[in-house]
Amino acid sequence: MINYYCVNGKIVKAENAKLKVTDLGLIRGYGIFDFLKVEKGIPLFIEPHMERFQNSAKEMELELSYSVEDLKNMVMKLIVKNDFKKGGMKIILTGGYSDDGYLPSKNTNLVILLSTFKVPTKKVYQEGIKLILHKHFREISTVKTTNYIVPIRLAKAIKAAKAKDVLYHWDGKVSESSRSNFFIVKKDNTIVTSTNFVLHGITRKRTLALAKAHYKIIEKDIALRELKNAKEAFVTSTTKGALPVVAVDDFKIGNGKPGKVSAHINELLQKQGKDYIKEWKNNKCSF
Ligand SMILES: Cc1ncc(COP(=O)(O)O)c(C=O)c1O
Repeated sequence: MINYYCVNGKIVKAENAKLKVTDLGLIRGYGIFDFLKVEKGIPLFIEPHMERFQNSAKEMELELSYSVEDLKNMVMKLIVKNDFKKGGMKIILTGGYSDDGYLPSKNTNLVILLSTFKVPTKKVYQEGIKLILHKHFREISTVKTTNYIVPIRLAKAIKAAKAKDVLYHWDGKVSESSRSNFFIVKKDNTIVTSTNFVLHGITRKRTLALAKAHYKIIEKDIALRELKNAKEAFVTSTTKGALPVVAVDDFKIGNGKPGKVSAHINELLQKQGKDYIKEWKNNKCSF
């Protein structure tokens, strides 16, 4: 049970956690956020998440007067206050109460929420997922904005295609999925991931760092036609780890079954999560 949230640095009862309806996040959809997983009361990889959050604020010209350490302390306070052991933490920064209903206020609004969320079942990892292609690129791709209008609008089409999500492409190149980064595995086990028009996912970064001990890694644009020769494909995100992609539209990736490399990457990510918890407990966390 989540009884408290944090609004502008103050912990308040969930029922009293409110912003006014004139907030620029509502009026113009101007806001950023970040999201991480909490396990055993520990916010996993909080430092890179808070660094990305700070960077998103900077790129969007949103005032954020807190350091990474301040943000970390606020998040920890909220976790402890709720005695929260497992779920997700979302930190949101909006344009605040704008003077002219258009430009962000100097007093942006900062909200921290805790929630439970569903992770894909074991069966989904065993079977892999299908994505549908959609011609689009996220304009301010390095920023985790609150704008998800394109994939939300496509939800019915995704379901009708018996797919789980979308794969954006533009100018013959694929970039990312709605809430995850995209990778292909070539026949020689080289792992390739897109660089342009993508969010710098924390799981993407972890994947590249972990995988380089085992595989050749290439960060470059992925041409649509490269999907046809890929042995495997997978997406990465905080909630999914590495999840195999077995079809894009009606085209099968490789033999249409989840591959060994995707499973290996997912194992490496899971292990690193467990190691992070251990290090945190020993107070030696270096992330
Ligand atoms: C557009 C987009 N790309 C990639 C990701 C994956 O990022 P992360 O690994 O930090 O969860 C997300 C996460 O929500 C996202 O929204």
